[in-house]
Amino acid sequence: MSASPPLDLPRQTARADRPEPPMVAVRQLNKWFGDHHVLKDVDLEVAAGEVVVVVGPSGSGKSTLCRCLNRLEVAGQGSIDIDGRPLPAEGRELARLRADVGMVFQSFNLFGHRTVLENVMLGPTKVRRMSKSEARAEALALLDRVGIRDKADNYPAELSGGQQQRAAIARALAMHPKVMLFDEPTSALDPEMVNEVLDVMVSLAAEGMTMIVVTHEMGFARRAADRVIFMDDGRIVETGTPDEFFSAPRTERARDFLSKILPH
Ligand SMILES: Nc1ncnc2c1ncn2[C@@H]1O[C@H](COP(=O)(O)OP(=O)(O)O)[C@@H](O)[C@H]1O
Ligand SMILES: [Mg+2]
Repeated sequence: MSASPPLDLPRQTARADRPEPPMVAVRQLNKWFGDHHVLKDVDLEVAAGEVVVVVGPSGSGKSTLCRCLNRLEVAGQGSIDIDGRPLPAEGRELARLRADVGMVFQSFNLFGHRTVLENVMLGPTKVRRMSKSEARAEALALLDRVGIRDKADNYPAELSGGQQQRAAIARALAMHPKVMLFDEPTSALDPEMVNEVLDVMVSLAAEGMTMIVVTHEMGFARRAADRVIFMDDGRIVETGTPDEFFSAPRTERARDFLSKILPH
């Protein structure tokens, strides 16, 4: 029998191997709307550079989870840390931390009375206090990256849905977020525009962006996701690799859900 205290070895190992804090750490998150309990004991860790796809039936809490993550909704209970720091309740610190979490919604939420370029420059000049010339150069580079540099001086209404959604991605990236949230970014698009948006997201994933993506686009999940999370009735019911989840879902609820969304 060794004389050394049994706890020494694990403790040293833990110290030596201590990983970076997860980029997103959600612990025991609960959320109510009135007495409607919409998020139930949600635990979720997302590592830096990881891409997590969230699926689940309508009303299962996917959007509410995203909205809690960038503080558009206040959690009822539990904690959310972004890059090792708790999401603050309000104030200037919140504005800064919220900028760490970029979000792209289902509906194109660009400002209609501003050009695409102005939309992308707005956050950097107003929140990040970047000079106009610097913000402009960076915005143009971002528009180039999402493939709509030639639309810089157009108004959102003059763009197709796919182009608007790519502009929304550029606008979110202009804040240099640490995490990007996408809430059904292609579900309002005409089918022929879905891929141009997914391609931008796939390239972001390949570049190492940490991403949480609510989508039922299985092709995207298989190409880009490290992990799929299945939510039902406010809970995370399953988590696994795309292959595990789509080929061999473990729960009856996930099988039932997949039977409804998979092509026949
Ligand atoms: N602002 C709100 N006020 C009251 N109930 C809400 C609100 N937002 C969402 N809900 C309810 O919370 C539940 C989860 O909604 P949501 O997060 O939008 O689900 P999902 O995105 O998975 O479809 C649903 O029952 C929905 O009706
Ligand atoms: Mg939703």
